[in-house]
This record gives sequence, C-alpha cells and structure tokens, in this order.
Amino acid sequence: MTDLTRRTFLSTAGTTVAASALLSTWAQRAGAAPVERVRHAVIGLGGQGHQHAREFDALDDCDVVALCDVDPERLAHAHKEIGGGSGIRLEKEFERILEDATIDSVSIVTADHWHTPIALHALKAGKHVYVEKPCSHNVLEGKILLEAADRSGKCVQHGTQSRSSPGIQEAVAWLAEGHLGKVRLAKAINHQMRGPIGHAAVEEPPAGVDYDRWLGPAPKAPFTKNRWHYQWHWNWDYGCGDMGNDGIHQVDQARWGLGVGYPKAISASGGQLFYDDDHQTPDTQMVTFEYDDCYLVYEMRLWTSYKLEGHDNGVVFYGDKGILENGREGCFYTLTGGERTRLSGGIDLPANVRNFIDCVKAGTPGKLHAPMKEAVASATLCHLGNIATRVGRRLHWDAENWTCTGDGEANKLLTREYRKGYELPV
Ligand SMILES: NC(=O)c1ccc[n+]([C@@H]2O[C@H](COP(=O)([O-])OP(=O)(O)OC[C@H]3O[C@@H](n4cnc5c(N)ncnc54)[C@H](O)[C@@H]3O)[C@@H](O)[C@H]2O)c1
Repeated sequence: MTDLTRRTFLSTAGTTVAASALLSTWAQRAGAAPVERVRHAVIGLGGQGHQHAREFDALDDCDVVALCDVDPERLAHAHKEIGGGSGIRLEKEFERILEDATIDSVSIVTADHWHTPIALHALKAGKHVYVEKPCSHNVLEGKILLEAADRSGKCVQHGTQSRSSPGIQEAVAWLAEGHLGKVRLAKAINHQMRGPIGHAAVEEPPAGVDYDRWLGPAPKAPFTKNRWHYQWHWNWDYGCGDMGNDGIHQVDQARWGLGVGYPKAISASGGQLFYDDDHQTPDTQMVTFEYDDCYLVYEMRLWTSYKLEGHDNGVVFYGDKGILENGREGCFYTLTGGERTRLSGGIDLPANVRNFIDCVKAGTPGKLHAPMKEAVASATLCHLGNIATRVGRRLHWDAENWTCTGDGEANKLLTREYRKGYELPV
C-alpha cells in the first residue's frame, strides 16, 4: 500500500486506526481455501435479489442458506420462492449473516449506496463476495474495494455478467484478432422508455421495515416511495442514474472491446428534458471518454425506445475496416462492402454465477470473469461521466492519484460524507 493509498483509505473511512493494524486484521483472513459445496447468502431481495436466490439455489453444488432484507415482506417472499426450507436463516441485519462462520459467500443486491460498505464488511468477515453493479457508489469507494479485494485473496465477482457470456467473449476475441483494423471509436448505447415517477409524498415507512438501516451511509431523509424500492436509482444519495444502472453494462463491454482502462479526460452533458418529477439523475446524457488513440462515447435517452445502429441497448465498435454491433439480439459485423453477418449470441447471468461458484470452490480468484480490477474501472467511468455531467465541464483524470486535475468541485464528488455509525469499515 503506498502512502497516498493509505492516507486516502484512512481519511475516507474516517478512522484513526493504524494502517498496520488494519492490514494485519485483513491478512489473517486472507486466502481462498478450496470448498466442496458452497453455502451462500443473499443480501437485498428486490427483483435482482430474487434472481440471485433462484440462480444460486438452482446450482447442484451451492445451497442458499441465508437471506437478508430490511423489508420483512421481501424477506418472506424470497424465502417462499426458494422453497421456504426451515434451515434457511432469515435476517434483517447483514452483520448476523457475516458472523455465521458456516457461510462461505454472499451476494450483495441492495441499493447502490450499500454495495461497497457491505462488501468491505463481508471481506473483513472472510466471505467471498458477488457484488451487484455498480460495485461502488462513488469513485473512492471503488479504489478502497479494489485494494480490499486484492488484499483478502477472496473471490469478488461483479454483476457485469456479459463478461461471462460466451457470445460476448467471442466478439471481444474477434475484435482483438484485428478483423476491423484499428478500432478508434466505440459507442455505448442506452436507449429505452422509462416512465416518469411523479412526485411522492412524505409518509411513514411500511410496518416492520428498518428504514434507518436502508438509508445507511446516506443522510437522514423522510420516507417517500421515490426514495424506496427501485426508485432510489434516480436519487444521487443512493443511486448512480441510468449510467450506473443499465449503462454500466454497455460501458463495460465497450471498454473491454477497446482494450482500455481509465481515460485521460471526460466531457459530458446531460439533464432532464423529459421528466418533471422527483428524478435528480439525467434522462438524457452524452459522455465522451478520451484515450490516447480512441474514444468511448456513451449515449443515453430514457424517453424513447428508438434504436441507434439497430440497437436500443448495446455497443457498436467502429474500425477502419468495418463495424461490430453487439446488442440484445447478439453480435453482428459488417466489413466494408460486405454483408451484415451474425458472429455470436448475447448475455447470460447464470454463466457469471457459475463462474463465481467455480472460483470459490477451487479458491481461484484469478479465474473470475468479472473481477474487481475491471469492475472498479467500469464503475469509475460511470461515476466520472456523472460528475462531468453535474459540474458541466471537461475533467482531466489523473489515474495514478485518483483525482481530477485542478478541479476541486469535481474532486468533492469522488466521495461522500458517511452518516455517523455507517462509516466504511476498517
Ligand atoms: N446485473 C444486472 O443485470 C442487474 C439487474 C438488475 C439490478 N441489478 C442491481 O441489483 C441491485 C438491486 O436492484 P433491485 O432492482 O433489486 O433494487 P430494489 O430496490 O428493488 O431491491 C433492493 C433490496 O435491498 C434491500 N436492502 C437495502 N439496503 C439493505 C441493507 N442494508 N440490508 C439488507 N437489505 C437491504 C431493500 O429493502 C430491497 O428489498 C442494484 O444495485 C442494481 O443495480 C443488477
């Protein structure tokens, strides 16, 4: 750990604990010993948490042995969906799951602002982690999570499941073989119709719900339906807009296909041209990430399902010998003067879950398809795209020092203030 890294970690986490003590605690739990049959828990049981419970439980060599949600109704529903077995532990507090030494791994499928905090707690407790996208709610969380994952030696998989999809793996390999010549531009497309959410009145949280815990590190705020299940995506305190929601899949694929990491500069514009409601995040957004010899462009419209280059959600790679499109229907290339030709198929969530369990069983974090190195890079691009949109100017990214050169306002948005009692764990 460099001095700068150590300083950032300690000051962001708001702690005075000596770095050496911290390192030794984590090192004691480091390593990923092989396991025969994985005992897995799912934390956060909305639409995607239910999907996790089903996918993990369907595997022959994995048992879902615990479920956790601050909402008892969702907890009961997910329990029923995986058969309602009496041996399944049901908890409102994720800490109870983490202190259970018989549990090997956890899925973190809460709202975004809880992803990194729970992942850090889980690694500290010696668990393997499958964290949904985006793995972080802000840039510095990603940096801390990446360091913690590396140090732990545990398997930490990201919910950017296209990394495990054979069709997309094939398309990326095809690009790397140079069939398109030099690829100088990739366009990540996120076009869809998302309805307005209106203005939600302040009300009491539903009975039995631990709303304070749901808010967690975010500032205290009264309950409304637009801060709650799913709609939190559109509030900066909890979500990352649709760029960090659906957009991260396309940004991740575009970065993967281009073979690039962090950009040197980011310019963006966006806003609300369509919604007039409780949305804080943009409904229209254009972001350009600049690299030494190529550009990655993200284009988002949430008020129309019209396709661009034949795709509503997808990525188009432009080379000097042709283009490759990768969308819901699969991957297609068109070489200059040639026919549009199908290359391969589309996305596959079960394959990412399978890859995670294989790595947990074998103790091989190095074989994860969506490891933190890639996850944090793609999440960081989304956060920087959002920051550039919010401050309204071009950012110069200093990847070595994790700062926007000479931009104090942008740098403030690289992290958040953690509510007392919910600071990042060390
Ligand atoms: N990989 C994918 O393709 C994909 C698809 C959909 C959603 N997701 C991700 O999954 C996550 C969840 O999405 P969703 O649509 O299910 O959201 P949701 O709001 O419907 O569900 C989140 C659940 O987490 C619970 N929760 C929140 N904080 C908690 C805490 N501290 N402890 C325990 N439970 C807590 C909530 O009560 C809620 O039931 C998001 O981060 C989203 O980006 C990924």
